[in-house]
Formats: sequence, C-alpha cells, structure tokens
Amino acid sequence: MATQERMEQLVALCKRRGFVFQSSEIYGGLKSCWDYGPLGVELKRNVKEAWWRSMVRRRSDIVGIDCSILMHPKVWETSGHVAGFNDPMVDCKLCKARFRADTIENQNCPKKPSLRPGQCEGELTAPRQFNLMFKTHMGPIDDASAVVYLRPETAQGIFVNFKNVVDTSRVKPPFGIAQQGKSFRNEIVTENFIFRSREFEQMEMEFFVPPTDGMKWYEYWRDERYRWFTDLGIQPENLRLREHASDELAHYSAACSDVEYQFPFGWKELEGIANRTDFDLKRHSEATGKDLAWFDATTRERYIPHVVEPALGVDRACLAFLCEAFTEDEIEGEKRTVLRFHPSLAPIKAGIFPLVKKDGLADLAESIETELKREFAVFYDESGAIGRRYRRQDECGTPFGITIDYQSKDDGTVTMRHRDSCRQERLPIAQLRNWLRDQLLGA
Ligand code: GAP
Repeated sequence: MATQERMEQLVALCKRRGFVFQSSEIYGGLKSCWDYGPLGVELKRNVKEAWWRSMVRRRSDIVGIDCSILMHPKVWETSGHVAGFNDPMVDCKLCKARFRADTIENQNCPKKPSLRPGQCEGELTAPRQFNLMFKTHMGPIDDASAVVYLRPETAQGIFVNFKNVVDTSRVKPPFGIAQQGKSFRNEIVTENFIFRSREFEQMEMEFFVPPTDGMKWYEYWRDERYRWFTDLGIQPENLRLREHASDELAHYSAACSDVEYQFPFGWKELEGIANRTDFDLKRHSEATGKDLAWFDATTRERYIPHVVEPALGVDRACLAFLCEAFTEDEIEGEKRTVLRFHPSLAPIKAGIFPLVKKDGLADLAESIETELKREFAVFYDESGAIGRRYRRQDECGTPFGITIDYQSKDDGTVTMRHRDSCRQERLPIAQLRNWLRDQLLGA
C-alpha cells in the first residue's frame, strides 16, 4: 500500500473506531489538536502504564513526580527556553502562509501543493526567530509582570524539584525521577496526524549520576529504551538508533541519540536520549542560590550530578504502535483489517460472545463478563454473526475472543480465539482470569 494511502486509511480507522478525533470537530476543527475517543484513551493509558511500569514500578532506583504545568517564569529564563527555544520562520508574501525555514524542503506550497514554498510566484520573507512557548497571564492583571508559560517540556519540573526529592526520599545517585504530563509548543508547522501537535503529552525521566558515569548511563538508557519498544511489539526493522553528530548537539549535551521509527511518512524521531551533563542543575543552582550538589558520605565527595534523560512523546508513541499494528490480511477468502497490538497495549483485552442469546448462553456470557471486568477491559457483544463480531474486534485490536456455546453449559469451557493467527482452543471458564493475566505479563 502506498505510504500516503496507508496513513489515510489509518487516520480513517482511528476515527471510525473511536481512537482519535479532530479537536472541536463540530466547529470545523482546531488544527493540530486531537481528542482521544473511547478506544484511544485506553490505548494511551496502556502506553503510559507500560512506560511507568518499566521506568518506576519495576525499579528501585527511580521515583515518580507530577508537577504543575504552570511554573515560575524564571524557570524558563534559567533553562534557556525564553531566549533560545526558537525555530526560524518564513512567511509567503503572497498567500501569507508560514513555514519553518529549516525544514522548507519537506513542506508544500498551500496553493500549489506540487511545489515547495517559495517555488511558486510568492516570495518568502527573510527567516526570523519564533519562540515556541505559549504565554498566558496569571491572575486578573494582564500585563508583563503576570506572564507565565505553558511548559514546553516536563523535564524542568523535575530539575527544580531535585532537592525536594533528595530531602524527602531515600534516593542517592545513580537514581532517576520520572514524570508524565502535558506539554505545549506553538509549533510553526504541525504534521502527520498526532505525530507533531501543539498540545501533547511527554514521558520523561531524568537520571542523576556521578559525573564520571555520565556516558556509561547514557549508553545504558539508549539501549534500554530501544528494547522497551521491541518488547512491546515494534519490529527491529522499523526501529533504529541514530547517534547525533557533534554539530547537532545542544551546547550543554555531551551525547544524544534518537530512537527513530519508520512511519509511513519516513524515518522520524520517536524518542530522544541525551546526556545533559550538569547543565540544568548548575543553572538552577546559580539562578536561585540553592545548593543542588550531592554529598556522597562514603567517598566524602561533593558534586553536581550529571543527568541522562530519555524523553518520549506519548502521542508519538501511540502513533508508532498504531502504525506497527495496522495490518490488512485475508482469512477464509475474506479481507480483514486488524490492529495487531501487543496484548498489554490493546484497548480491549477480550471480546465476549454468546453464540446465541437464548438457552441461557447470554446469561452465562454476562456472568463471565462481570467476572473478567473486575480486572480487565472486556467487551460484550451478542449482535450479529459470530464472524462479524470477531472482525469488529480485530479492527479494534482486541487480542482474544471468548465464545460461549452449548458445550460451555455442559463442561464449563469456552472457545478462546486468537486475533492474529485465528487459532482457537478450549479453555475452562474457571481459568480465564489467570489465563488472561498471563498473556498480559511481560512488557
Ligand atoms: N526534555 C527534552 C525534550 O523535551 P524533545 O526532543 O524536544 O526533548 C522529546 O522532546 C519528545 O517529545 C520527542 O522525541 C517527541 O516524542 C515528543 N515531542 C516533542 N515535540 C512534540 C510535538 N510537537 N508533538 C508531539 N510530540 C512531540
């Protein structure tokens, strides 16, 4: 399938099945903002849960935090965002459209889409810097003293709480602080569905280490983050690590790699892993006069920890998992669309289908639904031919289908149908909860 067509079909499926809707759609839509529907919100929660499990719950060296979106404006001066979080922008003097000057070769003239901006009759202005932070005012007075920013990354909330966490938790380097939450960037160009938007969610972890161990931990986290995606079903041929060249690195960064995914629109950054050195803690310490050094009581050393940061966008991760899962195949001569999500990411874990409504089969199916709902997202469906019910759940990415038939009444077993292989097996009703739990283990 051509890449453009594949993307269009995925976007259509996301709308049809309630994964992602355009924001404010009945008002004509708000460009670059997206709403997650009933299945999308489950997928997103599962992606965030999988990250939190692997980064916080299963480790003893990382703790979590949840900071406010609005922070003291001086935070963003110190971090360098007020002065430097800019993209170069150009305008078309003819149609007034705006473009990012540094990626012009990937953009199209809105009036003549076969041409690049500036290749039509319209002349482009000279590039000028555009700050990507959204500004608002705190309190009733709308002047410069009340300006606050919507955070453009979650990382700074972690840095400014470094001392709070050290003082209140029994952590010592090497240790990490993880956070998930909304970030906002007034991107000049938004693109490719939920890939780049102006309001999005991030999952970031700052790992504080002794200065001499920065590169060791950088390599560790680069490999660990790559593995997280493959554990959750991304095929290695669609995933690669790209080490930044020295001229690409931010001035404070000692090393940086992107985990890139092969989206239908090309290889693009999914996650960044950076060795940020002691830049952030040092700057915040200088700006506030607060001592953010760590004192190691064993070695009697005092140092500002270096920081390794894996930073991932939730929406971008959801898009990668959707792209990876989106498959069309043929079973018994019939074409089907299937989302082959890893079971732990699937919005619904099992469909529950009484073969017929009568003879007590629906009652038995409902009692199975009640039992499984205590632990899992399941979906009960008694309408239509069984094949059609399977097909509907295939399109939602539901990995298992439980069919209750006449034999179920006799021997207390059901048919378990596997989404990807369509294989069927009989399982005792009494074992369903444990069986499903086993399938969701691992990632
Ligand atoms: N604290 C470092 C940081 O924020 P970044 O590379 O600017 O680094 C990290 O962002 C991740 O956040 C990206 O790899 C991407 O997954 C996601 N991201 C960044 N801008 C985004 C946008 N406009 N829309 C969706 N996701 C975005």
